[in-house]
This record gives sequence, structure tokens and C-alpha cells, in this order.
Amino acid sequence: MREFEPMNTMLSATTAANDDIIATDKATVWHHLTQHQQWEEKDPIVISKGVGMRVTDVKGKSYLDATSGGVWCVNLGFGRERIADAVRQQLIDLCYFAGSYATEPGAEFAQKLLSKMPGLGRVYFSSSGSEANEKGYKMVRQLAHMNGDGTKHKIIYRDRDYHGTTIGALSSTGHEQRVAQYGPFAPGFSSFSHCLCYRCPFGKTYGSCNIECARDLETAILREGPDSVGAVVLEPITAGGGVIPPPPEYFPIIQEICQRYGVLIHIDEVVCGLGRTGEWFGYQHYDVKPDIVTMAKGVASGYAAISCTVTTEALFNEFKRADGNPLNYFRDISTFGGCTSGPVAGIETLAILEEENLIQNTRDMGDYLMDQLYALQEKHAVIGDVRGKGLFVGIELVTDRATKTPASEAQTGQVAGHCLEHGVMIGRTNRSFSDLNNTLYLSPALITTKTELDEIVSAIDAGLSAVFKQ
Ligand SMILES: Cc1ncc(COP(=O)(O)O)c(C=O)c1O
Repeated sequence: MREFEPMNTMLSATTAANDDIIATDKATVWHHLTQHQQWEEKDPIVISKGVGMRVTDVKGKSYLDATSGGVWCVNLGFGRERIADAVRQQLIDLCYFAGSYATEPGAEFAQKLLSKMPGLGRVYFSSSGSEANEKGYKMVRQLAHMNGDGTKHKIIYRDRDYHGTTIGALSSTGHEQRVAQYGPFAPGFSSFSHCLCYRCPFGKTYGSCNIECARDLETAILREGPDSVGAVVLEPITAGGGVIPPPPEYFPIIQEICQRYGVLIHIDEVVCGLGRTGEWFGYQHYDVKPDIVTMAKGVASGYAAISCTVTTEALFNEFKRADGNPLNYFRDISTFGGCTSGPVAGIETLAILEEENLIQNTRDMGDYLMDQLYALQEKHAVIGDVRGKGLFVGIELVTDRATKTPASEAQTGQVAGHCLEHGVMIGRTNRSFSDLNNTLYLSPALITTKTELDEIVSAIDAGLSAVFKQ
């Protein structure tokens, strides 16, 4: 902009550019998870800038982002020049090389990552959470072939868990609306019960139950035939299915059942990984020893696309045994698993988490947030349940606490919409279940402060009052 240009010309030029981008977007982009007929009646929010936990749209409106970039990614907040600088230098030095070769950042990041995961020994790189899970499934299936006739290939997944968008990942996803109309699905996947105490699938009450939700895994294994089940895949805390932390007894029971039937444990840390729940990984809150751990979103805090499938050294060693069969190695590739920006951003992410003590901050701020939300629950009868761990919280809305009648998806959306209008972005269950899209999500960046959390909670307070007239 030239110095002598009058201010009103500057403003109108910016407005015109903004209108252009909005029109261009509306005319060209097919957005994720979006019904375009309704959506196109309004202008899209075009986010153009982010600093810390605040983002600004092209019209200059500022938002406090309690979603870490919409889907639990930008755990370190926006505008981290240190990560940008490291990635920039790496792109100049070597932007890419295929994963069958080695690169310096790949090796360094794998070593640093494994130092946070005692008991695990190998890192396989790819570029999305779905892909990382698919790698895990392929490992299980190939093991079944290498160690037998391929029979022990089935994967049990849990109701209300989500594992991604590809057909294999959807075949193992317990969200009826996310999977609807995308069948037929891959064979070899079968489900067992979710573990949400608030809506116990066994009609029990925590404290007087026998953790039937975990024991249901054994029922599923016996139903499928133990000789045919290779693995169980679980989120440590169900994320998109409503933020569901399991009871403390849950994972030891899962572990014992898996040990008894020779079933591998695959933990999907795509959301919980790298600090979100107040431990490096969600599974580390519980007494469980996974064979496979997958991760994506928080690995590079949204500064690069990277995902990892991490395994035990024992599992990896199975793929080293050639046994005279030329096919006996993991014949898998991920083109963009060779991008060096991912591991470099991952190295910086790990360093920042440590140097800024962000995992401790996640625990402290998570406790504070929970306390504020429990207080809000006293005020609003529509809050049926508050649950979560660290900076990952779900607020389930009900129109009647006694009957637990779920609030509608529309009402839940209106609360999130009210917050958005007032400059606070929160998340919510979105087209996952026919009658249970009634949970609000909070997943602020791990740098968050009490002041920001107060702002988020007061926006929800106002949103609930406006929508439910309380
Ligand atoms: C638990 C879980 N696993 C896997 C995925 C899929 O990750 P991606 O969208 O990167 O493929 C997601 C995405 O939200 C997720 O929540």
C-alpha cells in the first residue's frame, strides 16, 4: 500500500478483495462435512490469520478458538515462528525423499517420539490419521498371513469410536451417520459396546457394575471366533463420538482379555496424542501396553501433515523374518510419508511442549476448566453430563435430566452458533448418531490460560441461556 493512498480507498480495496475471495470460495471449494445448499445462503468465514488462540477472518472479526483449529490439531496455538523457521530451512535443504530412504529429521523425530513411549520401538510415517490406522490394520492382516493362513485377521472396534474417512477406517467406525451411504464396507471388522457410563449400554451404574463394557470385548471375540481375531482398535478416550473417557478399570480388563486370546491392542491417539489429555498419550493414563499406536493431528500441531503408526519392536521383528518368502516384509508405502516438513515440525512440537511445560499446563488448565463447567452445570439444567481429561472436554446437553432426553442436533448447533456469533469457537458432535448429536466439545490449545477459559465458559453460559431460555 502506498503511503499517500487515502484511507477510504484502502478500506474499499480490502473489502473488494474479501468479497472476491468469498465469491471465489463459494464458486469453487467443496467443503468438508458441509451441506452446501444451506451453507451457500450465508457467506463462509474465511480465516486469514491466527496468533496464539485467536484467529481473525478476512472481514476483521476476531475469534477465540476453543477447538484448536476446528478439529483438535493446533495444540501449540497459531503463529509459531520457530516451527515455521525450522520447516522453511528443511524445505530448502531437502523437502522430500521417499520413505524407503532415510532422512535426518525422520530419524531424529522417531527417536525423540519413542523416548515418550516406553515399550514401543518403531515409527512408520504417513500423512493422515486415517492412513496411520490403515497401516495398523494392514500390519495385523499381514501378520495373520505370515504366521498362519490369514485367518486371524479380524479387527474388533468399539461403538462410538471413529477411526477415519477411508473405507477401511470407516469399516471400523461406530458412528452410524458417518458411515451411512458409504457401504459396502470391508469385511473382517466387528464391533463391541461403547463405555459411556452416562448412557450405559448395559443399564448399569458405575460403582455397582462389573465393567461390562470392557468385558463385552470377550463376547465379541468369542462371537467372531478367537482364532479369527487379530486386534482390537480403540481410542484411549472416544473423541468425536462424544468425548468418553473410560472408567479406570477398563483398560486392564481389555489388556487381560487380549492377552488371553492373543489379540493385539491398537490404540488410536489421532486426537489424544501429544499432550491433549495431560499425558504425552491418552493411553498413558491407564494401565495398558499397546502393540500399535497411531497418531496424527497434534504430532506437528497443524504446522505440517504427518501421521505415525508406532509399534513394539516385537511386532516389527515379525516383519524381519523372511522365512524364505519374498513377500514377508511390510509392502506398504505412503508417498507423503516422505515429506520432511512433518518430522521437523514434530521435533519442534516436542521441544515446545517440554520447554513451555505445556503438559503440566494442560493438566492444571483442564482441572480449572472442569471446575468451571461443573459450576455451569449447577446453573443450567440442560447440561446433563460433563466429562473429559486434560484440555479435552465434552458437555452433553439434555432437555430433561431425569430421562436424559438428548437435546437436538439443531439446539446443540444453535449454542455453538451463538458462541461463534459472539467471537468464541467451540465444537459439537456433528452428524454422527441419529439422536445423540448433543455434545459440545472444548479442546483449546495447550497454551491456554484461565482468562481464555473464563471467556469460553461465559460464552457457553450465554449460549445456553439464549437457546434454552434459562
Ligand atoms: C480418533 C480419530 N482417528 C482417526 C481420525 C482420522 O484422521 P484424518 O482425518 O487425519 O484422516 C480422526 C479424525 O478426526 C479421529 O478423530
